[in-house]
Parts: sequence; structure tokens; C-alpha cells
Amino acid sequence: MDSILVRGGGPLSGDIEIAGAKNACLTLMPATLLSDEPLTLTNAPRLSDIKTMTALLESLGAEISSMQEGKVQTMSCHGDLNPIADYEIVRKMRASNLVLGPLLARLGHAVVSLPGGCAIGARPMDLHVDALTALGAEIELRDGYLHAKTQGGLKGAVHKMRFASVGATENFVMAATLAKGTSVLENAAREPEIVDLVSCLKKMGAQIEGEGTSRIEIQGVDRLHGATHPVVTDRIELGTFMLAPAICGGEVTCLGGKMSLVESFAEKLDAAGISVVENARGLTVSRKGDRVQAVDVVTEPFPGFPTDLQAQMMALLCTAEGSSHLEETIFENRFMHAPELTRMGANIEVHGGKAIVHGVERLKGAQVMATDLRASVSLILAGLAAEGETLVSRVYHLDRGYEFVEKKLSGIGAQIERVQS
Ligand code: EPZ
Repeated sequence: MDSILVRGGGPLSGDIEIAGAKNACLTLMPATLLSDEPLTLTNAPRLSDIKTMTALLESLGAEISSMQEGKVQTMSCHGDLNPIADYEIVRKMRASNLVLGPLLARLGHAVVSLPGGCAIGARPMDLHVDALTALGAEIELRDGYLHAKTQGGLKGAVHKMRFASVGATENFVMAATLAKGTSVLENAAREPEIVDLVSCLKKMGAQIEGEGTSRIEIQGVDRLHGATHPVVTDRIELGTFMLAPAICGGEVTCLGGKMSLVESFAEKLDAAGISVVENARGLTVSRKGDRVQAVDVVTEPFPGFPTDLQAQMMALLCTAEGSSHLEETIFENRFMHAPELTRMGANIEVHGGKAIVHGVERLKGAQVMATDLRASVSLILAGLAAEGETLVSRVYHLDRGYEFVEKKLSGIGAQIERVQS
């Protein structure tokens, strides 16, 4: 297993390229199941999660070719499709559950393994099941698999979700594109990745409106055709790399960054004493004074503060002036980075879904362990400004969601390298 070695250093400067969004690509790729014509995605990120989704779709019968080192993916589902998403692949990545809606819509039946829990929580599928059942699916849990079928195809319906689940919204919207009649999803998730999915589905001939709001309306159509679509910029990678100059000082421009993708996050950075300026090249970030100020953070569905940036924000607040209160409201176990940051000298109290971070002057490098995707990068961020060396192990977590992270950070002056351990 690889590790990442980081040497704490001074201010960072330069440009950093932001890739296409992992969480957009992971819902755009299953959309290919909805049509027998090719779907091409450009600006796709080069990540292990994308490789996992590729393997899953190929196991279902998709033909996938990638060009430009994986930045362009062309997928085609024109042959017979296999309706069974096997546990061996699904267990690796929860987003595998996003083939359920498209398979049901295209074939009228599907057998999809439950993904099982992961480090940050149990991550059940009840909201997906409720949403697809509302469209007329009969779904039964048997032997760890969801067995789903429809009598005579999906039918349009109005459905209000208990919680604005991102994945359940995506499954409902994709399934409803081919349902008979009109569907309305209330309390829909509003993430930019859903807006990007709908943009692609419309290019494929879907009739949808309301994306980005909590009410999405879909008019079912008989079939969808192929399309070419650029994956939207990754707002979580963007927010992650905005924190590098915030933690180390200096000035960095995140190329392609847009304020609209990270509005609530940028507001918190401003309150902490970080300058974020939007310009034609992207978002330019610098620290206003010598030390950031403590701020309080509560994670919420978009457009609130993203849960996927909570661990990274905690790394920043470890050396803030004052005490910060963080509340994680989306996942039940998403503070596993706290004990690792504590090994670096951070002063953090965790009480269930709440954490209090008492800022210290400077962290000290240490051997730490990545526990999940976003925790792994928060430890790297902490190591960028810590005194001495930090060795982050189990970076396979990191490779799921960040392409070439050591190359990108080295490009702005960070002392970081990947080592075999
Ligand atoms: C998406 O996961 C993202 N993943 C997650 O990013 C992100 O953290 C999450 O949305 C919230 O923004 C992808 O898009 C591939 P949810 P998803 O359904 O769709 C509970 C990352 O680091 N829930 O909005 O699984 C669930 O347990 C990943 O890139 C149910 O109870 O998130 C969680 O507590 C991590 N029943 C909450 O809702 C369900 O049926 C949010 O889940 C579904 C979800």
C-alpha cells in the first residue's frame, strides 16, 4: 500500500487545475443505460472510483472506450443488458446503486446488491426504494440484493422525499425519464451534480425542469438518444485545494473554479480571514493575515456547507485563533480524521455529531492513517503547514477521489511525494 509523505513548508503559490466532478461522473455514467445510443463524457476525472463504475457498467453489458488518458469516456449499451449488479463490485463503491433506476427504466427489472455500510455510516437505501416504488417498481430485499421489477413499465408519479438524498434524487430522475406520464420529485436534492446530470439527460432527449430546486418535474418519453456532455467542475476538489493556501499562506488560483459551486464554503473561508476572488481563470485564494480565525460550521445539503468539505475545513481550523464548533448533520460517523489530527498536536473534542476544535499555534508532523476519502486529504492539508514530516498511510482512499494529488500540490510548491510502504 502506498503512503504520502508531506514536509511542512512555507507559503504556496501558482495555479492548480481542478478536474471534472467525481460525484457528477458517477451518476452520468449510469445514464448510458437509458439509451441504446453512445453517450460520451468529456472532462472526466481519472480516479479509481471511475474505474470501478466502468467495471460495473461493463459487467452489465456496456461497451466502454476511454480516450485522452481517461478524460473522455464513450459508453454504449446497444446489446442485451445483464440486469444483475454483483456484490463483488457494488461493495467497493456505494455509487454503484445508481444503476438501479436506469436498469429499471430500460429493462423493467434489476437485481442490485446492497452496497453495505462504509466508514462514514450505515448508508441505507430506503429513500431509493421509496422513490422507485412511487414510480411503480416492486422492490424486495432478498439475500443482500434488491430485486426490483415493474408490471408494464414505470409510471409517472408525485413523490416527496423524507430527506433530500442526492443518490435517491438521481435514481428517481433517471428512472422517471422513461416512465409513462409526468413525475414530480419534492424535497429533491439541489447539488450541482444533479443539475449536471439533468443537463446531460436533456441532451439525450429527456424533458425535465426544476433541477437545482427542491421540486423537479419530469415528462416521460419513449426513448433517449446519445449525447456528448462535459462533466462539471469538481466543487469538492475545488474546495479542498482552496484550503492549501488558506493553511500555508501564499496565493493560489484554482483554474476553472466558480464561486457558484462553493458559495457557502467561500463565505466560511471569508469569515475565517481567507480571501477568495473570482476571475476569468478561476478562484484566487490567499490568507489575509498571519493566522486564520475560528469559525463555526454546520454541514447541510446543498446549498449549505458541504459534508464532503467538513474534514478538510477541520484541518484548517486546527491552527485557527480561537475555538471552532463543527456539527456534522449528514453522516453519523464522519469525524474519524479527528483522532489522526490529534496525533499531529491538534486539540479536538468530539461528542457524537459535534466537534470543538481549539486552535493551536502549529501542528507537528506525525505518522497518520487515512480512514476514508475526505479524511485522507484533510491529513495531507494538515501536513502541508505542520512542523516536520507527516506520513499518511492507506492512500488508496485518496485515489478514489483525487487525481494526481501529489503532482498538483507539488505544482504550487508543496513538498509532497508518494512512497511505497
Ligand atoms: C452523495 O452520496 C455523495 N456521493 C457523497 O460524497 C456525499 O457526501 C453525499 O451525497 C451527501 O452530499 C456521490 O455522489 C457518489 P445521500 P449519497 O443519499 O447519495 C442517508 C464523497 O466523499 N440516506 O444524500 O449516498 C445517508 O445514510 C461522497 O465524495 C438514507 O438514510 O448521499 C446519509 O446519512 C461521500 N437512506 C444521508 O442520507 C437512503 O436511502 C445523505 O445521503 C439514502 C441516504
